[in-house]
Amino acid sequence: MRKNIVAGNWKMHKTNTETVALLNEIMAQLKTPNCEVIFAPTFVNLKTAVDTVKGHHITVAAQNMHQAEGGAFTGEIAANMLTDIGVNTVILGHSERRAYFHETDALLENKVNTALKHNMRVIFCFGEELKDRQNNNHFNVVEYQLRDALFALEKKDWANIVLAYEPVWAIGTGETATPEQAQEMHLFIRELIAKVYGNDVADNVSILYGGSVKPDNAKEIFSKPDVDGGLIGGASLKANDFLAIVNAF
Ligand code: 13P
Repeated sequence: MRKNIVAGNWKMHKTNTETVALLNEIMAQLKTPNCEVIFAPTFVNLKTAVDTVKGHHITVAAQNMHQAEGGAFTGEIAANMLTDIGVNTVILGHSERRAYFHETDALLENKVNTALKHNMRVIFCFGEELKDRQNNNHFNVVEYQLRDALFALEKKDWANIVLAYEPVWAIGTGETATPEQAQEMHLFIRELIAKVYGNDVADNVSILYGGSVKPDNAKEIFSKPDVDGGLIGGASLKANDFLAIVNAF
């Protein structure tokens, strides 16, 4: 059965010192959660984060990685550098990577393959822009993002895929998809996966919602049957807000 997940994407926030402080503040108050809790700090703070959460049921994830095994790629990070320090989950395809770093579905397909080859779990992000929704093209856009990056995978690979639907117009804008809009899209995604891979894969894949999830809307969004958790940006940087979102499950 699929699991519920609340993941904090810290983006380019928090120094090493602040990372330790925020993790400790959250861990001090975290009761046994009804979901998996994931934090994705920036690369330079990953090892510190792994060491800090040791002994707690918390997963540390990377926000990105390179598709190559290694080599002359100045400034980049390879999969085995992550797994070597105990990071086995990676966020790929975030809309900020797509928009500002020109990541395409074809490139993301490569990255996903590399991550899976290293037995990593992928949190794969996708979602339409405002103009797509205004043109009533959002289902199409989402379908092609998934098809182009993920649908060459084998059925067994899906055990290591988590999906994160993040409508671009709702990220960092304070604008949230309504719980009904999230459910409608999540159901569409699950039915699409069922068509391509069968009901067992579709029923077992966790589909997270991301885009201005806050303590005051988390419960309603998470209550929808096809929403299996959230990928949280801004609200994951404040201990009390993040804890309230975790406790919404
Ligand atoms: P916000 O929660 O700040 O809208 O960010 C969502 C996000 O991009 C998570 O990856």
